[in-house]
Amino acid sequence: MNFTLSNEHKLIQDSAREFAQSELLPGVIERDENKEFPTSQIKKMAEMGFLGMMVSPKFGGGGMDTISYILAMEEISKVDASCSVIMSVNNSLVCWGIEKYGNKHQKEKYLHDLATGKIIGAFCLSEPEAGSDATSQKTTAIDKGDYYLLNGTKNWITNGNSASVYLVIAQTDIEKGHKGINAFIVDKNTPGVSIGPKENKLGIRSSDTTSIMFSDVKVPKENRIGEDGFGFKFAMKTLEGGRIGIAAQALGIASGAYELSLKYAQERKAFGKEIYKHQAISFKLADMATEIDCGRLLCLKAGWQKDNGIDYALSGSMAKLYCAEKAMRITTEAVQIHGGYGFVKEYHVERLMRDAKITQIYEGTSEIQKIVISRSILK
Ligand code: CAA
Repeated sequence: MNFTLSNEHKLIQDSAREFAQSELLPGVIERDENKEFPTSQIKKMAEMGFLGMMVSPKFGGGGMDTISYILAMEEISKVDASCSVIMSVNNSLVCWGIEKYGNKHQKEKYLHDLATGKIIGAFCLSEPEAGSDATSQKTTAIDKGDYYLLNGTKNWITNGNSASVYLVIAQTDIEKGHKGINAFIVDKNTPGVSIGPKENKLGIRSSDTTSIMFSDVKVPKENRIGEDGFGFKFAMKTLEGGRIGIAAQALGIASGAYELSLKYAQERKAFGKEIYKHQAISFKLADMATEIDCGRLLCLKAGWQKDNGIDYALSGSMAKLYCAEKAMRITTEAVQIHGGYGFVKEYHVERLMRDAKITQIYEGTSEIQKIVISRSILK
């Protein structure tokens, strides 16, 4: 077993770190405050190859492994988790889903533009009444011969407004339950597609999260992904990888808060000495460092398993559960270490604390991860 990163991995980590510090840090507080979509930042991320890292170079991607993706996600998330969720959804849900399960025509039509970041995509599974209970899809896609007629509403869709392409999960045969679910690639400009207002969120405020309404949308048959009835498995398999991305995002949010706390604790004085010299603070830092290391190892294990063709559903869920829970705890502690300064925006940690919360919710809540983990260990 070797815990050392390769030179190539270190290079990716360093360039993501430098990029985040120089391009994402300026204006991050204002973008959060104003719910401003990071248009120019995402364009630069696309130029850096961060939007299609694992896609094959023949489709315009970086051809990198999941370890590289995790390392980059952590560095981007330390600074701007809104940018990293946009990156994560595009990489691990949309690009991966199409590359893995799409047919030749779908890959040729969509993948190059998505992998190069010319356009971005969104993953539309959640509904007003189907979040955790994902088999209860109310959106329908009725087979009309040459096309499916899509009707329904999707909720809390990351990249809802900024995406040009949606992966939409819908019920095609209610009698068949989850076996009657399909996944479709839907162009945003198809007649009948409309987008709700940008949600006013607690965290990741500059990413755009919207509902999307489909009213008699004609989806060509050729846009269905996989065999008839494959849609639920498509969603589950895609989310398995997505959860590694969100675990890395949570890890980055936590390590960003930790690094700020470490610095602050060495500068700030109280009772005649730097606060890190008080055990109350140094023990907090020790716990944070330990938990971050554990989380990173879980992420890298899941990524390594994915890269080596080993089932990663369990390790991905463990990584997501652990990193999300620790991100919430660590960012809260970071605010505590910063005291009154932590409660104001200039010091970044309050934003990281708000951003951490969503990692316990999206791509499967912590409770859903426990279902996946317990089923896996008990089967
Ligand atoms: N891989 C392949 N197949 C899977 C699977 C997996 N990981 N998980 C389940 N399945 C299959 C099962 O084998 C079963 O098929 P068979 O009957 O043929 O065996 C079928 O799917 C149904 O599975 P279950 O009976 O286990 O279904 P369930 O109703 O008990 O729920 C669940 C399973 C794990 C709770 C699932 O509903 C789930 O993951 N829910 C959370 C959904 C989620 O993560 N939503 C996130 C939204 S996307 C998002 O957040 C993106 C964003 O914008 C950031």
